[in-house]
Amino acid sequence: MQQKIIILDFGSQTTQLIGRRVRELDTFCEILPYSKFPKDDPSVIGVILSGSPYSVHDKEAFQCDLSEFVGKYPVLGICYGAQFISHANGGKVEQTGTREYGRAHLQQVDTTNPLFKGFDLDSQVWMSHGDTITAIPSDCHVIASTNDVKFAAYANDKNTVWGVQFHPEVFHSTQGKQLLKNFVVDICGSKQGWSPASFVESTVKELKEQLGNDRVILGLSGGVDSSVCATLLNKAIGRNLTCIFVDHGMLRKNEFTKVMEAYQGLGLNVIGVDASEKFFADLKGVTDPEQKRKIIGRDFVEVFNAEAKKITDAKWLAQGTIYPDRIESLSITGMVIKSHHNVGGLPKEMKLQLCEPLQWLFKDEVRRVGRQLEMPERLIKRHPFPGPGLAVRILGDITREKVRILQEADDIYIEHMHNYICEDGEALYDKIWQAGTVLLSSIRSVGVMGDERTYEHPVALRAVTSTDAMTADWAHLPYDFMAKVSNEIINKVKGVNRVCYDISSKPPSTIEWE
Ligand code: XMP
Repeated sequence: MQQKIIILDFGSQTTQLIGRRVRELDTFCEILPYSKFPKDDPSVIGVILSGSPYSVHDKEAFQCDLSEFVGKYPVLGICYGAQFISHANGGKVEQTGTREYGRAHLQQVDTTNPLFKGFDLDSQVWMSHGDTITAIPSDCHVIASTNDVKFAAYANDKNTVWGVQFHPEVFHSTQGKQLLKNFVVDICGSKQGWSPASFVESTVKELKEQLGNDRVILGLSGGVDSSVCATLLNKAIGRNLTCIFVDHGMLRKNEFTKVMEAYQGLGLNVIGVDASEKFFADLKGVTDPEQKRKIIGRDFVEVFNAEAKKITDAKWLAQGTIYPDRIESLSITGMVIKSHHNVGGLPKEMKLQLCEPLQWLFKDEVRRVGRQLEMPERLIKRHPFPGPGLAVRILGDITREKVRILQEADDIYIEHMHNYICEDGEALYDKIWQAGTVLLSSIRSVGVMGDERTYEHPVALRAVTSTDAMTADWAHLPYDFMAKVSNEIINKVKGVNRVCYDISSKPPSTIEWE
């Protein structure tokens, strides 16, 4: 049986990070709303309580019933989690007036306690809390302190409950990984059996059982998630999977053909639909970004459904939903606050059941599974690309000619990015979360080419680093790289006479311009 750690989410921004750290220890984990501990799940081996934006004294503070798991499994409270456990068991949590944020160093550490095995004195930890524990429960003892925080970490006398006021999951806690390893592996007894290979093996087996001889439909986008999902399903059910790949005409240059070839090379049963006429006709004259999105979304559902309906015996709709999509969809009170696109628009009479085999994976794990399935590296490493495609990168109305101009510029930019090898031997493309070009088609500026005056459009280059697209920094691209790209775009792409670089981060800007 797959062992699992339960992470109860009290609303901290770093809860997902705790999950990733546990997975990095080749251990499966589930992030659940704070009050949803699964009572009768024999695969649970330990529980972690996350931080929270609340103080334990707030009226709205999230609470859980500790008796559901304390004494039954090892428990680790992080930040609010540690304060909550202390507060609920007769300890004291107070606002001492000094809020503690940032780096601190452990001045005393009990390395005989299993949680701190292998720790160095002076180990750097990351603090981020307003309240402080000023007294711990009577059956607990302190196991680490900093100069300012006496109860930086505590354990109960039976060694079944631990609390740390710092954040071991963040990079700045230099031995945080060691602490989580001590908890997950040594204390909870994880056998570290969770890996891409074991995931593929068990998921293929489960999919075979779940789907039997049923027919499954899947919408491909060319992106990593849907492609890995399709490849996994193909391994499980082969020709019973029918993939539909809709070309709305606003993909990258030659993308439709290239991706179709890659899919066929993977042995996928895929129907390519060129629906660009319909999309261009419906988008004619539309300049408002939201309106563009609505039209593309509606047309996409229409085209997809028309194809899906032709597969009359389909029973399932597969989607490449991944774990962060699910966590975003669940507020910590357990209510759905965002539903996934495709699902809402499918005709009810088709009565398709949902199949989402990647729903427990983080993005980096999806890529590792893709490698396990021997998918082409270029498909696995692809940058995210928005569903509405280049439509949200053309400011103003959309025409085939503008799309062509942008495709040419984008192709030059991205190819150079693949070919530019950085000092550490890695391609620049692989260091960037997402890159693309934007056509400022409602603006024209003057230039000179040869002896002629030009009056054409600028193109903006965008490149950002990020881990989840929620926040992003503009990438510090090398000047020699930008010089080459700018030169080539202006020389080769008719209609463009100026190249700019977007140096805005998110927030306050967004990654896409529209
Ligand atoms: P923003 O522009 O909001 O983008 O910072 C964040 C991430 O989401 C992608 N994006 C979209 N993806 N449909 C999609 O499938 C959309 O309408 C859409 N809008 C933005 C964007 O490319 C970035 O990765």
